[in-house]
Amino acid sequence: MGNGVPLLYGSTTGNTAGVAERIAERWSGSEPIELIDISADGVTPIMESETLIIGAPTWDFGELQQDWADEWQSFCQIDFSGVRVALFGVGDQLGYPEWFQDAMGLIANQVCKAGGVLVAPWPNQGYKFEASLALIEGEDQFIGLALDEDSQAWATDERLEVWLKQVQSEFS
Ligand SMILES: Cc1cc2nc3c(=O)[nH]c(=O)nc-3n(C[C@H](O)[C@H](O)[C@H](O)COP(=O)(O)O)c2cc1C
Repeated sequence: MGNGVPLLYGSTTGNTAGVAERIAERWSGSEPIELIDISADGVTPIMESETLIIGAPTWDFGELQQDWADEWQSFCQIDFSGVRVALFGVGDQLGYPEWFQDAMGLIANQVCKAGGVLVAPWPNQGYKFEASLALIEGEDQFIGLALDEDSQAWATDERLEVWLKQVQSEFS
């Protein structure tokens, strides 16, 4: 793999892919973003990285998106010891309020279990949902950036701007 910061994502209808591209465009860290589509490249390109961004939509009532499900066994083999990981999820709080951003929570659990350090959590104010596996227990925060291209697409740019600053400072 190259010298960039890997951004690993999966996407069925293109929303998460679109956000990944916007992140790559706006990123102003010292190393560029290296986009890795899990359906094309699998998870091996992220093996050696010290910093990593992961993007995942939630599908099928609280489940991993298909490409993530296909690569899940390989993902669970990765040792994330000491790796700083920033997560973003893409979900739909109006359509699926009981499972909002669950996939981000599933991925976060695995990253932590494998020794990774999650950075750049995000406040849960400004959202309407009933339950989410992506909340930090006992805090008013998601474990990463929660985006909603279905019901709150208007908020995405501003959220990205704030969150990316946080990620860049945690990665430097
Ligand atoms: C059948 C279906 C099930 C979904 N299930 C969930 C869900 O459980 N939780 C959630 O937050 N969003 C859910 N969504 C919303 C998607 O996560 C959202 O549309 C996302 O932007 C899709 O990203 P993608 O285009 O990158 O695949 C679901 C959407 C569909 C069509």
